[in-house]
Amino acid sequence: MIIQANQVSKSYVSSNKIAKSKKTKGNLPSTEVLKNLDLSLEAGDFIAILGASGSGKSTLLHILGGLDKPDNGKIMIANNNQWLDLYSQNENELAHLRNIYFGFIFQFHHLLPEFTALENVMMPILIKNNNNKEAKSIAEKLLYEVGLQDKLESMPANLSGGEQQRVAIARALANNPQILLADEPTGNLDSANADKFMELLNKLQSDYSLTMIIATHSEDIASAAHKRYKLAEGKLWEMPST
Ligand SMILES: Nc1ncnc2c1ncn2[C@@H]1O[C@H](COP(=O)(O)OP(=O)(O)OP(=O)(O)O)[C@@H](O)[C@H]1O
Ligand SMILES: [Mg+2]
Repeated sequence: MIIQANQVSKSYVSSNKIAKSKKTKGNLPSTEVLKNLDLSLEAGDFIAILGASGSGKSTLLHILGGLDKPDNGKIMIANNNQWLDLYSQNENELAHLRNIYFGFIFQFHHLLPEFTALENVMMPILIKNNNNKEAKSIAEKLLYEVGLQDKLESMPANLSGGEQQRVAIARALANNPQILLADEPTGNLDSANADKFMELLNKLQSDYSLTMIIATHSEDIASAAHKRYKLAEGKLWEMPST
């Protein structure tokens, strides 16, 4: 086992006008997005999470990846042969774990616009150990691997959407993460680029035996995963294999 969500719950307080009206003052209605959710993954597992818009897919990925604390429940990760309770770590330790343990790919790449493709991929490595030579050599290798060997010095704005997402994959892999979390990574790509992107992601998943969780609206994309779950009513429901 590499990561486990135990009885995770998360609610958001509604902040719309009705909720703020006098009637409900002091007692704002809240929406329970995740309810006692359980999940456990082995190293090398690749799962897809489907579910309606607003069902809580992004919320779950953020909680799993150390970006958002659950109200109740725990995220346990296996690190150097010991179990760590992610949210019982202090801020520095949590930030360190996010950087070395998890790789994130989002719908919008979130590349730093004023840095080149190469520098964007070097960044997480530099944060880890401030070794410029090592960072450059790892980043170059990863950009080769995603087919961007001719774009090392390009600024994100001068890359296509598909190329930007490939830089985002390379950046997500920069610190050789245990777990890759991808939230609608093809949501912003046309179907030809989405297919190419998924082909690459599938190849990397199997080459590196990555543990990967992908949240998507697309049945097509989800079909590449070893297991598919639907997020509904705050829980994950395993879907029959296709
Ligand atoms: N920071 C927040 N404050 C208040 N409510 C939030 C917040 N983040 C998410 N929510 C609410 O929690 C619910 C789940 O949101 P989430 O973004 O996890 O859904 P999703 O499944 O990723 O949807 P989509 O498929 O549209 O990306 C939604 O109703 C959303 O409005
Ligand atoms: Mg989402």
